[in-house]
Amino acid sequence: MMEQDIEVPGMKSRLAAAAPWWQPTNGSLLAIRGGRPLVGTYPISGAKNAVLPLMVSALLTPHLVTLRNVPANLDVAVLAALLQRLGCGLHWSTRGGDLALTLSADRVHPAGIDADLVARMRASVLLLGALLARCGEARLPMPGGDAIGLRAIDFHIAGLRAMGATVTQEGGLISATAPAGLRGADILLPQPSVGATENLLLAAVLANGTTTIRNAAREPEIADLATCLVAMGARITGLGTHRLTVTGGTALAGAVHHVMPDRIELGTLACAAAMTDGELRLPHGRLDLLGAAADSFAGAGIDLHETDGGLVARRAAGGLRGIDITTQPFPGFATDLQAPTMALLTVAAGASAISESIFEQRFRHVDELRKMGADIAVHGRTARVRGVDRLRGAAVTCTDVRAAAALVLGGLAAAGETVLDGLDHLDRGYDRMTEKLAACGAAIVRSDRP
Ligand code: EPU
Repeated sequence: MMEQDIEVPGMKSRLAAAAPWWQPTNGSLLAIRGGRPLVGTYPISGAKNAVLPLMVSALLTPHLVTLRNVPANLDVAVLAALLQRLGCGLHWSTRGGDLALTLSADRVHPAGIDADLVARMRASVLLLGALLARCGEARLPMPGGDAIGLRAIDFHIAGLRAMGATVTQEGGLISATAPAGLRGADILLPQPSVGATENLLLAAVLANGTTTIRNAAREPEIADLATCLVAMGARITGLGTHRLTVTGGTALAGAVHHVMPDRIELGTLACAAAMTDGELRLPHGRLDLLGAAADSFAGAGIDLHETDGGLVARRAAGGLRGIDITTQPFPGFATDLQAPTMALLTVAAGASAISESIFEQRFRHVDELRKMGADIAVHGRTARVRGVDRLRGAAVTCTDVRAAAALVLGGLAAAGETVLDGLDHLDRGYDRMTEKLAACGAAIVRSDRP
């Protein structure tokens, strides 16, 4: 699986052309002096995993699609560059700190996909469904993304085939055609895959006839995508359930859509407030967005309560305690919160068992947390954590987006200085995290390598 590397020739200029707000040279190391309580308001950005499919949905219509509350992260910049190469016009604007993107796909060139950009992100696989639906053809290098498991795309391909597409995979290239257009189909997903549900939804809205996606994923980001598609004129029922029904074939109009809050950023910052014994206001946060994690967090000693302005997070009076969690599809405990929660549990009283049931290799943060003094043993897909009194600062490497967040949390709570490298991973998923944490009292500085 591909590691991220921004030093591909021409990459910086392509990102700068597509996403001028992106700052590629804002320091390759992050130093955190731990032990300060985080206090204040931490603005929760639009959700990374919602905005990416929403950006792709603009390929389905020649009309303007405007997305508000767009998070300023590296994945958004990479996808913007990919869409630009496909012929999509991009217009960025900011109003009161809110980043908005208007996409215009009046002409789409399905052959313009850059292999090195696709290698950087998993969500590029969504281009397959959207390009097939709009252009009747798509050619895509195998998508990359975080090295957290096998990450097959067989459900995506089987679903598109059921809709009449011819799909071949050769030499790392996926080619798909549907010269006569896609047709509605009854599709049963073997597992509730987030990406496959989104890909098939994007394809189904322009297909002729009715598509039913059974055992669909129920992650809130899917309902956010469907809500935007409905605003564009698509006919979709069953939002938020395991069964989505799409009556396709209607030409889509444009839409204006406000991206939902990032529930993973929300849960991560709740952990940060409790670990540092501070108090954070998390605007637009809601407990229902956290699914089962809301109860798990309460059990671990995070006091989270809803107010009119969002959530307030702090450590409960009884302190942090070990808990057992198993990651599951929504509304189960989110795999994307597994690493940050592990960081929290390294300093909770007693023992915890963390089982990862979604991805095969999502414990790469364990070795890095151990460097900080964490007591963690991995047996297969379960990590057993024994809480220690205090982590200590260390030099650590980010290995994927959520591992990066876990190491930031460790650094905020540790005694002494923690220095992180591999920051592309952090940048992929988090919008201005350094600035937001500093504004809440963290001693955190980004710098270039000496
Ligand atoms: N799977 C298959 N075949 C398929 C599709 C999935 O075997 O065709 C397997 C995967 O290998 C995995 C499981 O099914 O073991 C679940 O994968 P899913 O398709 O649900 O995940 P995804 O679409 O690749 C999205 C998020 C991930 C998040 C997962 C689970 C985006 C861009 N990515 O990935 O986010 O962990 O859903 O919630 O939405 C992250 O943000 O750090 C991240 C990795």
